[in-house]
Parts: sequence; structure tokens; C-alpha cells
Amino acid sequence: MPSALTPLFRRPASPLQELESPTLRQAGVRLLIKRDELLRMGPEQALSGNKWRKLQYNLQAARDQGMETLLTFGGAYSNHIAAVAAAGATFGFHTIGCIRGERPEGLNPTLRFAEACGMKLQFISRSAFREKYNPDFQNRLSEEFGSFYLLPEGGTNALAILGCRSIVEEVEQQTPYFPDYWCCSLGTGGTFAGIITALNGRAKALGFSALKGDFLAGEVAQLLQAPQASQAPQAPLLSPQRGEAWGAWEVNGDFHFGGYAKFEPYLIDFINGFYQQHGIALDPIYTGKLFYGLFQLIEQRYFPKGSTVLAVHTGGLQGVNGFNERFGNLIEVSAF
Ligand SMILES: Cc1ncc(COP(=O)(O)O)c(C=O)c1O
Repeated sequence: MPSALTPLFRRPASPLQELESPTLRQAGVRLLIKRDELLRMGPEQALSGNKWRKLQYNLQAARDQGMETLLTFGGAYSNHIAAVAAAGATFGFHTIGCIRGERPEGLNPTLRFAEACGMKLQFISRSAFREKYNPDFQNRLSEEFGSFYLLPEGGTNALAILGCRSIVEEVEQQTPYFPDYWCCSLGTGGTFAGIITALNGRAKALGFSALKGDFLAGEVAQLLQAPQASQAPQAPLLSPQRGEAWGAWEVNGDFHFGGYAKFEPYLIDFINGFYQQHGIALDPIYTGKLFYGLFQLIEQRYFPKGSTVLAVHTGGLQGVNGFNERFGNLIEVSAF
């Protein structure tokens, strides 16, 4: 049964928290955390973090178009898959998750959860997965599943970018210290693109790539050229429309640890220590690497004394159980 999407749009802002630590005091840096992991809804609260913001206008568009089914793509541990499954269960959409690779004998916690939410899992070979946006492949999906609202892998499209602009808009209302640096983790770059467009040159955006390779800056530049990237609902198109013209932004590629599910023991120590010290749980794929990298830069005095730095906690905590199941309970905070 479809239900109203109002709770996605009418909600309090996620908390903004200033972190205290000797490292920050010595560096003379104020660090604010936008706690989007505390934006949570749906079964096991899996509609959370940046997924909430990326999905909200897309779910509205699907509803406005009269679509009853959401179809999307992802890896076997994808936060986006979990969030779409939770959104479907919460708001009455059928959901189909096209998962990269063979169906394993036993499903991991993310896929078990998605199935329990009612998502139909369609496993597709790695080579077919690379062709997922090819019109022939899309036609075959339509023949098999009927009409659906397509959410790209990771949920990034113009409406997702639009949703992520609200991170900046909320922070502006929450603190008198307009941050000089805005940091977040990058997978597809959609969250970062939303921040860049909302900042519109007023501060520097610094993205931390969770992926190996140096292609993400190019992807972000492309996202920034999509005309709707800057469009607010019922608002005229803002200029500039070209990636280069959006003000200072940079993708840091030094803290991906080799990519998804790659890590070193000192990253795990950092994540566990961060939780013990600050009571804030981090995930090992995105936010753990973001905060690790951020503290490295703070120690290297990357940020001038007196700077205010904002970091977005984009969630991803649903992935901790799967990571722990795979690698042996390394992360000490698994009860989310
Ligand atoms: C927890 C978390 N943080 C950050 C990201 C990166 O977001 P984006 O794909 O918009 O770059 C993702 C997903 O991709 C995520 O699941």
C-alpha cells in the first residue's frame, strides 16, 4: 500500500556536533560533524544518512509519475541497496535490486535485509553489470519487470544532488560559524556535488574518495554540468552550470586504503578508538576513511589555524554487520 512521503520532507535537521579533542586544540581547528547517520527511518532504520537526502526527491518523482516499482543496481554490501529496500517497505513501492555477481550460497546481512524488506534480488554477471545503462539491457529489464523508476547505482542523479544541497542549507541555520571547509566521503560523487552546488563558491569543498583511481574528480565535474544540478524546486536555474565555475573543490585520493572493503589494522584501531573517545560509530567503507584522512590532514596542518571544518557523517552503519561477518568482528560497535 502506498503511503504518504511527507515524513521524508518534514523532519528536524540532523544534529550538528562540535568535536573536542587535543589534536583539534593543538591545530587550532574547529571541527563540526553533521550527523546524518542519525537521520534514520524504516526497517532497521536503514533509510539513513546521505541515502535519505539522495532518495527523497526521487521517491517523490516516482510517486508523481505513478510508478509502483523502483529498480536499482549495487554491489552485495551496498548501503544504497539496503536504503532502497527500506524505502520500498516504508512507502509501499515494489523494489528490485540488480546485484553485481553470482548469487552466493548464503546471503550476507545486507542482502538478507533487502530480501526481508521485500526486495527482489536479481543477480547479474559482472560483465552484464558494466552494460547496465545500455538501452538493450534496460529494455530486457522492462520486458521482465514491467515499468519501473530507475535509480542509478549509488542513487546519484540530478534529483539526488538536489537533495544533498540541504546539508549546506541546514548547517547554515545551525551554526554562526560558516565552515571554511566542507568534507565528505565520495563513492559516486553525488553527495559532494550537492554540497558544491549549494556552497556556490562560498567555501572550499574537500571530498575523500572511497575508491581507488583518480577518476572521481572527472565524474564530479560531469555531475556539476548536469543542468538540474543547481535547480531547487520551483526555483530558477542558478548559474554557473559548468563544473569548473562552482568554486573551490578538490578530491583527495590518499585515504581509500585500496578501495571498498580494503583496510589496514590501523584504520580499524582508529574506528574503534573514535567510538570509545567520542561515542560516534563510523563505518569501515566510507566514514571511517573520511575521518581517518581528516585527522591526518589536521595533524599535517593542512587546515590553517582558526579554520572551521565541517565533516558530514553520511551513515553507512548498516554495512558494519556484513563487514564483521566477513572479517571477524573487527569493529567493536555492531549493535545499530
Ligand atoms: C555511507 C556512505 N557515505 C558516502 C557515500 C558516498 O556518496 P556518493 O555516492 O554520493 O558519493 C556512500 C555511497 O555511495 C555511502 O553509502
